[in-house]
Amino acid sequence: MNHKRTAVHLSVEIAKIMEKNFDKDVKINWDYLISGAILIDAGKLLEYEIIDGKLSTSRDGKLLRHPFSGVSIADRFGLPADIQHIIAYHSKEGDLGKRTIESIIVHHADFVSFEPFQDAKTLKC
Ligand SMILES: [Fe+2]
Repeated sequence: MNHKRTAVHLSVEIAKIMEKNFDKDVKINWDYLISGAILIDAGKLLEYEIIDGKLSTSRDGKLLRHPFSGVSIADRFGLPADIQHIIAYHSKEGDLGKRTIESIIVHHADFVSFEPFQDAKTLKC
């Protein structure tokens, strides 16, 4: 939860600085930004399951990682395509496509609050 909380807070702070420093060159939809930042990992509810008290990847999660299942959940609740886009493109799966400004911000906020805790991604001297 700390990762999620931090990603949301970072998204908001990045967006504030972008608007302040770039003025009219950056137009951020705050509803999309905050909703998307909160919901990017909603698909993890389907990606993981607890078996015998141990967390593991579900069969559905192996077939569809949380960016995909998250979009499915968001669509089921009628959320706008802009929010579904943030969910779909927040992870590495979105690296080959173009992102909206809100999606770029959330993507980087997500990784900033995640990668420092991954041994494979962090140089420790
Ligand atoms: Fe994620």
